[in-house]
Amino acid sequence: MAYNAETEKKIKKLIDEMTLEEKAGQLTLRGVGMVLGSDIPDYEDLRCGRVGLLPHYEDPKIANEIQRVAVEESRLGIPVIFCLDVIHGYRTAFPIPWSEAMSWESELAEKTASAAAKEATCAGVKLTFAPMVDIARNPCWGRICEGAGEDPYLGSKFAYARVKGFQGDDVSDPDKIAACAKHFCAYGFVEGGRDYNCVDMSESRLYNYVLPPFQACIDAGTKSIMAAFNDINGEPCTSSKWILTNLLRERMGFNGVVISDAFSVGALVKHGVAADEKEAAKNSLNAGMNVEMMTLAYRENLPELVKSGEVDGKVVDKLVSEVLRLKFELGLFDNPYVDVNKGKKVILCKEHKDLAQESAKRSIVLLENNGVLPLSKNKKIALIGPMADDQYEMVGEWCVTCRKEDCVTLKTVLEKIADVRYAKGCGFDDDESGFDEAVKAAKESDVIVYAIGQSQDLCGEARSRIKLVVSKTQEKLLKLLKKTGKPIVTIFVSGRPIVLNTVKEYSDAVLFSGALGSMAGYAYCDVIFGDYNPSAKLVSTFNQSYGLGGTGYYNALRVSRPACEDTKWCSKFFDAPIKPLYPFGYGLSYTNFEYEGLKTDKTEYKKDETVKISINVTNTGRFDGEEVVQVYVEDPVGSNVRPIKELKGYQKVFIKKGETKNMEFEIKISDCGYYNRNLEYVVESGKLMIGIGTNSEKYDSVEIFVK
Ligand code: BGC
Repeated sequence: MAYNAETEKKIKKLIDEMTLEEKAGQLTLRGVGMVLGSDIPDYEDLRCGRVGLLPHYEDPKIANEIQRVAVEESRLGIPVIFCLDVIHGYRTAFPIPWSEAMSWESELAEKTASAAAKEATCAGVKLTFAPMVDIARNPCWGRICEGAGEDPYLGSKFAYARVKGFQGDDVSDPDKIAACAKHFCAYGFVEGGRDYNCVDMSESRLYNYVLPPFQACIDAGTKSIMAAFNDINGEPCTSSKWILTNLLRERMGFNGVVISDAFSVGALVKHGVAADEKEAAKNSLNAGMNVEMMTLAYRENLPELVKSGEVDGKVVDKLVSEVLRLKFELGLFDNPYVDVNKGKKVILCKEHKDLAQESAKRSIVLLENNGVLPLSKNKKIALIGPMADDQYEMVGEWCVTCRKEDCVTLKTVLEKIADVRYAKGCGFDDDESGFDEAVKAAKESDVIVYAIGQSQDLCGEARSRIKLVVSKTQEKLLKLLKKTGKPIVTIFVSGRPIVLNTVKEYSDAVLFSGALGSMAGYAYCDVIFGDYNPSAKLVSTFNQSYGLGGTGYYNALRVSRPACEDTKWCSKFFDAPIKPLYPFGYGLSYTNFEYEGLKTDKTEYKKDETVKISINVTNTGRFDGEEVVQVYVEDPVGSNVRPIKELKGYQKVFIKKGETKNMEFEIKISDCGYYNRNLEYVVESGKLMIGIGTNSEKYDSVEIFVK
């Protein structure tokens, strides 16, 4: 946060004038119907200064009236902040964050976050509970769809970009909103992938894998951070001084506002670390939690806690000052109201819809293709499957204000372009009544486009699942369609990795994405017909089996008995294949890229030097296309056990057919270190392998030495 002497004086003056009750009010985020903001708040609360932050109200006139009461009718005239989960769009829905990360284009994520912010401000929203930057390796955890996948390097790029997109360089800009990076921290590592579960993790692992994206958010200037529901090593994040003060503020340099997750201060009682809400409030205040969301433990207990000396008044003043500072920074004291006509120009405007289409097509991963794609527009197409014409499914998880009627399905667009026979065929996991009609449509066509997947309702918060497979009904219909002998292009939509073995076996081409948002139908057609050559790559490993207990990710630590086929005395599941179906970083194009001539500028480097490494990438296929060129570093011998490999760089490059591009990367040796058991960041001498290639399993590598 920026400190401005004039503002600091105003903050001090307010603090001096505030009663303890008003201070508690500023630390309270109140709202029943939090997400939709459907309930009008208690105006008396506003007049008495008993509330500091509120949910959003879609109608800007209502938002202005609420703000007017706070500003004009309360004793100190402190404005409220309207907050909302603006996760991947406000009304224009962009791809879900996990899917968008598959574009590997963080610039795109910055643009979509910026557009979402602009739309949200039309309703007076000034703070979003986003980005979600939890690294997640276990597909059982339903919230994997909200983040950027399993890798901390890529995750950090997207984290930084999304904060910048929401906030810009000046968050008081009427088009900008404060980001709230979440969930601090390690929520993606809940035991077994079961939501709200505990986390037991070494601190070095926390530093190496979990914290980098949060640090990126802090570096980008995030104004707030949300504490996670979970505990770490026995300390709930909600009341841990170690996590919220020592780690977040003192070590990582955050100086903004920490917001609790929904109900989690009150929930410290159920968590079994506070006897009652009073103790819960005491612990959270002392830990450094500024704002309590939903429960009212602060409001009801803070005055007494200060009077009894259980919480130091100076601690409270600091927490309140940080909230007030944020309100000044957001420009709310100078300009508390929203232009009620802004939405007409901004919401669902052409520019945002074009961006939604652009980001959607760039997020579609081509997993398989035996040459059937791209389709020519004069083919007769059988369009089959429950994802083909379901507007609700296009919206995607956590786009609370987006509406299904604003989303364009594949069927709507495809029918404008080609000769289409449509048959839904089946439901998501039942209803075989449409099978015959689907087979008939297939027989009358040249090619089948089979749009299936998992309903968005199966993903997201409180959607942990064990069996991550294609539904039996969808699989059965796929096998029936195969019997027609017509080529099958399967479009699979899901918010998490699914075991796609059968889809791979029975399809001639497979496209994968999460829910793509408002312009999904256009984006699929751009890719199907080759108007856009797919360039996205997976950000999570897709395994051949579910039930791997969260162990199926690419950057795992080395073990003394690496998995292999020839013996059982090694680290593997006896009843699951070792290799993933599709590794991290995997994704095809309609063209081919060949890599050759990998070289570094030297073979020996000092620890403060930079490796200049390059490779020639040639487009040897029939189409122009983009490739995500990826750099992986292996550290074969460390003082501590090191990951098998780690992503350390990437560039997405456009290469015309027949053309060769020389791709150069600079990798700092100092970025190849790690936090050891004593939490020291060490860069060690010895051998490193640096590889460049097309995914985390296919790259050329060269040996270098660090002195
Ligand atoms: C989620 C948060 C979300 C909050 C408010 C919680 O249940 O964990 O990610 O921001 O609700 O909607």
